[in-house]
Amino acid sequence: MTRHFVENDLLIATHNQGKIAEFLQLYQLHCPRTITLHSTKDYTLPPPEETGTSFLENAILKARYYSKHTGLVALADDSGLAVTALGGAPGIYSSRYGGKEGDSKAAMEKLQHALAECSSTPPFHAAFHCALALCWPDGHIETTTGTVGGTLRFPPSGLSGFGYDPIFIPQGETRSFGEMSSVEKQARSHRFRAMQQLLQQCFY
Ligand code: IMP
Repeated sequence: MTRHFVENDLLIATHNQGKIAEFLQLYQLHCPRTITLHSTKDYTLPPPEETGTSFLENAILKARYYSKHTGLVALADDSGLAVTALGGAPGIYSSRYGGKEGDSKAAMEKLQHALAECSSTPPFHAAFHCALALCWPDGHIETTTGTVGGTLRFPPSGLSGFGYDPIFIPQGETRSFGEMSSVEKQARSHRFRAMQQLLQQCFY
C-alpha cells in the first residue's frame, strides 16, 4: 500500500550540488507543506557503492543506505543520459563517463567522439532518465520515474544547469537545457516529472 509522508524531516540523499539545487527549487515551488530538509553534508557517511543495474535499483540502494544510517526518511535520485545510437550509454554510468566522477566537460567530449565514430548520423536521439526512491527507516520504499526525450547538439551551449545540460535539446525546443533558466528546465525535466509524481503519490 502507498505510504504518505507525514514526518517533518527529510534527508536529500545526494552529494551532487546540481541535484541539490534542483531539489530545493522543486521543493520550494511544489511542496504543499513545510518540511525540514537535511543534507548528507551533515553526516560523515561515505557514499554507498552504486552496484545496481538500473536507475531504479541504484536509487533504492542509495535511499535505503542513507535512511538506515541516519534514521531519517531519505529521498534519493539516480539519473543519467541514455543515447540511442550508443545503445543507451552512458546510462547508469553517466557521472563517471568522462573518467573522473562528475567531470562533465570530459564526458561531453567523450560522447562527441563516440558519436563521430559510430555508424549513426545526426540527429542523435537521447533521453534523460530519473528514478526517485523515498525510503523510511523501517525499510518501506516508494518509487517514481521520469523521462525527457530530445536530441544532442555539439558544441555544448549555455552555462546553466549541470552535467550534460549544454548538449541536450529537449523535444520541441531549440535551446539546450544549459541555455534555459532553472525554472524553464524544471518545467521539462526528467527529475521534475519524477518529483511531481512522487509529490502526488506521497505528499498530498
Ligand atoms: P548519479 O549521481 O549517479 O545519479 O549521476 C547522474 C549523472 O547523470 C550526473 O552526474 C550527470 O552527469 C547526469 N545527469 C543526471 N541528471 C542530469 C540533468 O538534469 N542534467 C544534466 N546531466 C544530468
